[in-house]
Amino acid sequence: MFDFFKKSFISSGLFEGFTDVHCHMLPGVDDGIQKMESAVRALNYYEEKGASRVFFTPHIMESLHENTYEKLNERFEALKKEYKGCLKLALGAEYMMDEGLSRKIDNKEPLICASGNMVLIETLAHHPPLNFTQNLFEVRSIGYDVMLAHPERYAYMEKDNYKELLNKGIKFQLNLMSLFGLYGKDAQERATWMLKDGLYTFVGTDLHRLKVHRDFFHIKGLKSKQVDALAKLIENNNNLKIGK
Ligand SMILES: [Fe+2]
Repeated sequence: MFDFFKKSFISSGLFEGFTDVHCHMLPGVDDGIQKMESAVRALNYYEEKGASRVFFTPHIMESLHENTYEKLNERFEALKKEYKGCLKLALGAEYMMDEGLSRKIDNKEPLICASGNMVLIETLAHHPPLNFTQNLFEVRSIGYDVMLAHPERYAYMEKDNYKELLNKGIKFQLNLMSLFGLYGKDAQERATWMLKDGLYTFVGTDLHRLKVHRDFFHIKGLKSKQVDALAKLIENNNNLKIGK
């Protein structure tokens, strides 16, 4: 059936009070926003649209983005000095599931979490990491909650894999723009049925450039049921406390 009343993220009102749990706005630490002024501009835009909180989740990835807590926190403090607005900000990270992460776990190094013990983890899009599920459960077993970033982008996963992870307490984070096709048709289709089937707990933007996302925020592509489903995810985002 046609839905003549499709809404954009902005016209649906979903930006009001929105906590973004996944973005690359912390400047100059990964492949996201590079300049301090661009980061401040992105934060001002979020505030203008009604958002309430932003969790910075820079990549931590072996051989590519070797970010330490000290380095990230230094940038975080510098950004907080530059940004004069009202958004509440928190420092987290997006860990690639790789040998670096395994090593951190073996060494009992604390992982960077924007909220409590909730750690954001991603994998490559096309190949599952070695011992994927086993490693995820290991992170859980040492006391972390796992938010798996953009599972709709993992082409290697089947329906049963998603269910298995959910049953073991892994929480899924939808990349909002997957619904609009930013990551291709396959991710779009997966995101659509996963949202419909209630597989997600959280939603983030995974914003790397404001310019790209700003256009997507205006696309009128959300059906009313999707708006309702997203509102529930946003409520979950908003219930996450900042800090321990
Ligand atoms: Fe990301």
